[in-house]
Amino acid sequence: MNEKIGIGLLGLGTVGTGVAQIISSPEGRHPLVSKIQLKRVAVKDLSKARAISIPPQLITQDPLEVVEDPSVELVVEVMGGIEPAKSLILKAIKSGKSVVTANKAVIARHGEEIASAANEAGVYVLIEAAVGGGIPIIEPLKQSLGGNKIKKVTGIINGTTNYILTRMSKENADYSVVLKEAQELGYAEADPMADVEGLDAADKISILSGLAFGGTINRSSVPTKGISTLQNRDVEYANKLGYEVKLLAIAERTEKAKDSDPSLSLAVRVEPTLLPREHPLSGVNGVNNAIVIEGDPIGEVMFYGPGAGAGPTASAVVADILNIAGIKIMGTSDTDLDPLLSAFSWRKCHVAETRETLQKNYIRLIAKDSPGVIGQIGKIFGKNTVSIESIVQFDASDSGAEIVVITHEVNKGCISDALSEIKNLNEVKKLASHISCL
Ligand code: NAP
Ligand code: HSE
Repeated sequence: MNEKIGIGLLGLGTVGTGVAQIISSPEGRHPLVSKIQLKRVAVKDLSKARAISIPPQLITQDPLEVVEDPSVELVVEVMGGIEPAKSLILKAIKSGKSVVTANKAVIARHGEEIASAANEAGVYVLIEAAVGGGIPIIEPLKQSLGGNKIKKVTGIINGTTNYILTRMSKENADYSVVLKEAQELGYAEADPMADVEGLDAADKISILSGLAFGGTINRSSVPTKGISTLQNRDVEYANKLGYEVKLLAIAERTEKAKDSDPSLSLAVRVEPTLLPREHPLSGVNGVNNAIVIEGDPIGEVMFYGPGAGAGPTASAVVADILNIAGIKIMGTSDTDLDPLLSAFSWRKCHVAETRETLQKNYIRLIAKDSPGVIGQIGKIFGKNTVSIESIVQFDASDSGAEIVVITHEVNKGCISDALSEIKNLNEVKKLASHISCL
């Protein structure tokens, strides 16, 4: 086949530029890279200086022109946002064009609609870059781990927050200064609140959960907490007690979940979490991401690498482009979709009520430094069936003492009832922090 496969690029920002750079320098890469060619590119601002030179006749401000261009066989959406991205993806599918997208916000909310439109039209929508930046995680979940019954997915899946937390923990760096750096490095979302409030990680765990457990979950029911209210003191105490603090995204079968259930019950959450130093995720630093998958019979596998930035993300986008290019070159009928590459739900899943799920806890209380306080706190935990792993008093002074409790894994409802009672004790001035632990 001598004809090149025409690519239409929606967006020429951090990721789009990285993709264009790979396509324009095929030497030394897989031979298929030389079989793809940029045909049209959409940007918002034509006057902006670009890090790559693209022939001006290929560039337009109208993304629809890219999707509708007959020389464009494959649409690569790297513009971000919900609209017009979602409509453009659906338009491309309707025109019989496969799509590659890095847009987790769209896929987490509209993935089901997009996947059914793609399956109906006999085209692919591939999303390797939507989770974990450069880490291959989507294709392994769809293909390499297909023989497993997945029990749990645990990930550090936001590069910006991991970069901030690492710099804060290792160098005591200032939160807002490091956030600005992450933006300049191209790691952060257009609105960085999506990163620091945990929303981007919630999009990603929704996507991973759908692939791991076989059914889409409702994105809006994922309990989500970011790092913006995390206090330095808790990071410091966590370190003293042998833990690192990371923004974790977790999806796991609840204790009650059975494969025969009409809808599989999953405990899903995104929140800052204390990780014991011996946990494989505790050493994942900087912009790196890592995802641990627990499956039967494989056991535990960990995927690790750069989670954001132009090069790593472009690597994942181009992997998807090559998958589709390979199929096109083989000349398989467009309606014969490879079931391991296309996406479809094969069962229903739902997010379990938070109170029913289990969790280990770190709790910091400010209390009077008087005899019997720890005894009273312990009694209330015991009454609510909360078992304590350790209890330590820090910084006792006339103004009070800080008591840090680590519990064993307990029902979230029980811990919440116990804390409501403890807050009402005369000797307790304040519940200063409550953070999950692994
Ligand atoms: P970005 O740097 O802000 O780039 C967005 C690009 O889209 C820009 O070139 C912009 O044009 C163009 N654009 C936006 N709205 C447009 C519109 N209505 N019409 C035409 N062009 C439009 O964003 P990014 O960091 O590359 O991220 C792109 C996508 O990849 C997002 O979905 C993001 O979540 C995802 N992603 C990003 C990373 C990362 O590390 N950055 C990693 C994984 C996934 P102008 O250049 O003219 O402004
Ligand atoms: N803003 C995202 C992050 C980009 O920091 O992880 C990669 O998806």
